[in-house]
Amino acid sequence: MSVVNVLFLVICMTIDFKEQEIIMERVKALLKGEERFALVETYGCQQNVNDSQKYEGILQKMGYTLTDDREKADFIMFNTCAVRDRAEKKVLGNIGALKHLKAKKPRMVIAIAGCMSQQESVEKKIRASYPHVDMILGTRAMADFPRALEAVLVEKKRVINREENDCVLENVPTNYDGGCKAFVSIMYGCNNFCTYCIVPYVRGRERSRSMEAVIEECTLLAKRGVKEITLLGQNVNSYGKDMGMTEGFATLLGEVDKIDGIERIRFMSSHPKDISDEVLSVMANSKHICHQLHLPLQSGSDKLLKEMNRVYNREKYLSIVDKAKKLMPDLAITTDIIVGFPTETEEDFEDTLDMLKTVKYDSIFSFIYSKREGTPAAKMEFAATEEEIRARFDRLLSVQNDISYELNKKCEGEVQEVLVEGMSKEEGILTSRNYANKIVNFKGDESLVGKIVKVKITRAQTWILIGEVCG
Ligand code: SAH
Ligand code: SF4
Ligand code: F3S
Repeated sequence: MSVVNVLFLVICMTIDFKEQEIIMERVKALLKGEERFALVETYGCQQNVNDSQKYEGILQKMGYTLTDDREKADFIMFNTCAVRDRAEKKVLGNIGALKHLKAKKPRMVIAIAGCMSQQESVEKKIRASYPHVDMILGTRAMADFPRALEAVLVEKKRVINREENDCVLENVPTNYDGGCKAFVSIMYGCNNFCTYCIVPYVRGRERSRSMEAVIEECTLLAKRGVKEITLLGQNVNSYGKDMGMTEGFATLLGEVDKIDGIERIRFMSSHPKDISDEVLSVMANSKHICHQLHLPLQSGSDKLLKEMNRVYNREKYLSIVDKAKKLMPDLAITTDIIVGFPTETEEDFEDTLDMLKTVKYDSIFSFIYSKREGTPAAKMEFAATEEEIRARFDRLLSVQNDISYELNKKCEGEVQEVLVEGMSKEEGILTSRNYANKIVNFKGDESLVGKIVKVKITRAQTWILIGEVCG
């Protein structure tokens, strides 16, 4: 373990995963060369998807073969999300369903990791009602995974690690899936404490990876044939602040843009309170950064934005959009919206609809507010009934569908570069993404997968574009 940054009394430790190699070898020896299968099921955001690829990489290194089949698996991990109640209920239901599988195959090891398992209340629930769960790992316990698995296999005892620390892991074996796109986490945690959100409680404070480590990973991915990289963090615009950098994210973007072979760069999420002019200008002047910005709004009401602790208002948000569109007239903007925040009135909701119509988002990710115990919003009284909130949600989707269709319609006749991801469900039809991350389907064969192709858009639908290869 080495201390890489001591700044303003904040100590961020970097743990080199190579230190776990001896334990990983020991676990491999325990499996005695017998084929054992492992399954990691992921819930939640891209950062969790990226963590799961690391858990899979570690399992492969310890001798496991990956499978999608729960019946076949000797090791099952649920990498969980706590952001909304529905995701939590689904996981608990799925853990319950594993009971009979474990009864049939006693050597099966069951683990839960990720944001749900970081919570004390979940640990209590598992202890009380799910005796078949062998391992609970919090969001900062990945370095301890090989030891925990060894303890479960050898001592046949349950292992729990929900330690809170400010560590960043490097050199973690990762199961990059071999596709043309990859996620790269550039920072962990969140300092913002939006009043509805559980993330800062379960993911801890912001910790940035070193710029060298991020560049090294992106370079390695480029060598493996990855064409598109999405840089991940809860608030990428504050990348490097914990290391004393100003404009750390703009600098990082500029450096990733220089890597040979990386043809497209995206990033998320971008908190409006922290996005700098420099980031927008690096985007506009870069060769490879897609002119696409995910800029979560959450609500269009100034009153609600204040109560949500978002630290910007409509005016500030619109001024960012304005600046960005002046620099990049073709910019595609997407956002996150919460409907039914406790104090939301009809008037507040109409302010949100008004923002949708003003900004004209290419698409939105919309969520009905879910109460998270321990957050300030959990104590607030509701101003609307469940029925009213449902109806608002439907109205929001309908307004946005019209906007998405209108924007897609404008693409008809355009020639766009798309990155081909694979065959679609329809025979002979490829599925790809344009710079705006919109799906473009067109006729073609497998030889185009992983390539950037020029396609003429022939027809717009609400969610996807249809095209044909340009001759
Ligand atoms: N860090 C990102 C968001 C991560 S969570 C950002 O600030 O943009 C992804 C989205 O989930 C949030 O943008 C928000 O729209 C939604 N979300 C978070 N907490 C929620 C809650 N309690 N109920 C409903 N949606 C929530
Ligand atoms: Fe949650 Fe806000 Fe942090 Fe995003 S910025 S993870 S919404 S607290
Ligand atoms: Fe969910 Fe954790 Fe991501 S709560 S949204 S998996 S950071």
